[in-house]
Amino acid sequence: DKILVGPTLTFSGNPMTAPWQEVVRIDTEGAVLLQGNRIAKVDKAVILLDRYPEAEAISYRADHLICPGFVDAHAHYPQTAIIASWGKRLIDWLNDYTFPEEMRLQNPDYARIIADRYLDLTLAHGTTTVTSYCTIHPHSVDALFEAAARRNQRIVAGKTCMDRNAPEGLRDTAQSAYDDSKALIDRWHGKGRATYAITPRFSPTSTPEQLSALGALWAENPDCLMQTHLSEQTDEIAWVRSLYPEARDYLDTYEAHGLIGDRALYGHAIHLEPREIDRIAECGAALVHCPTSNTFIGSGLFDMAGLRARGIPIGLATDTGGGSSFSMLRTMAAAYEIGQLRDTPLHAAELMWLATAGSARTLHLEDRIGSLAEGLEADLVVLDLASTPAIAQRAGEAKDHWEMVFATIMMGDDRAVRDVWINGERAGERSEAKDAI
Ligand code: GUN
Ligand code: ZN
Repeated sequence: DKILVGPTLTFSGNPMTAPWQEVVRIDTEGAVLLQGNRIAKVDKAVILLDRYPEAEAISYRADHLICPGFVDAHAHYPQTAIIASWGKRLIDWLNDYTFPEEMRLQNPDYARIIADRYLDLTLAHGTTTVTSYCTIHPHSVDALFEAAARRNQRIVAGKTCMDRNAPEGLRDTAQSAYDDSKALIDRWHGKGRATYAITPRFSPTSTPEQLSALGALWAENPDCLMQTHLSEQTDEIAWVRSLYPEARDYLDTYEAHGLIGDRALYGHAIHLEPREIDRIAECGAALVHCPTSNTFIGSGLFDMAGLRARGIPIGLATDTGGGSSFSMLRTMAAAYEIGQLRDTPLHAAELMWLATAGSARTLHLEDRIGSLAEGLEADLVVLDLASTPAIAQRAGEAKDHWEMVFATIMMGDDRAVRDVWINGERAGERSEAKDAI
């Protein structure tokens, strides 16, 4: 048994629907008891140290914060090496940067290198669970699930399916997308800490036949997740309209093929029609906010306030490599900035919830990860709230812990990650993860 002693961040409810002051808490005298791969207790340090004298105590500083590990609800690990590519909007960005790079993962050795590099980088940034698209190549899915299994990481991933409007070498067919995805579900879904997400890239790169085949596959495997993109850029929406003239709107292209439900995850969802919002709210599907991507690719400003008011589950994500950072801290900062531009800034407590329990909830994993709570899997990140001189001087002036947390959200990076715990074990030191790259 181990006791991590230090300030703890805990949730007793959902700050998207209740005032954060009532449901999010920092206990500056807290501690967490880990037993095996589980969180066994979260309580006052004096109580746990007294009750479990045999446990090994690991002490963190008063300006550290023991948090649930970050959960990234939407990313493209194959785009790791083209993150921060200049000057394009979505469709050109895909054609000029993304597809050529995804083509390189045709080589299974390269796919394995990138999968390892990606998990090392995300772990160094405190992210313990990622939800990733792979490429059309089934071996790219194996590479990521295997890399996660080696690290004992919980992971969500799926084979990206595209049977049109993508270059030769990056297209499958309706049938092969079904067959390959089915084989991968059998191989990986529910194995260890893996969840499979059926993954049509987006309507423009799938024929209606492919969307139907994947809708059928999902109906046959209803406990899988389904992830795709929705209404990211206006040009894209116009393209969808021309490709699917019968559809009422973008969401309808998925809906008509069985690709809607409470285990659906729609990335971006910026330019939604009222009918789409109603339908999403009604069926319990989740939306994933990708703020660094939405500004980097120039997509627009996600309506967090309006959509949360409708009770729609919302996750937070980097969207690597359309997003410009592997860091969920930087991603929270971007979500804050977009909230400011829409006159509805999120509090640090709400941002931290979105990056952990909120994302876990969109993945239907909230009873396993995303919170410091009894019985959950022991995936934790310990933040250093004074990790650089600039942050430390601000933290020194802080009137309470939340001001310190906010400074780290706005200015922090991988240097703010003091420790990462995965499945009850401390992950390799930051420097080792960095050296591995
Ligand atoms: N829409 C379809 N594919 C992608 C992708 O790889 N990244 C982003 N940001 N949007 C997409
Ligand atoms: Zn994406």
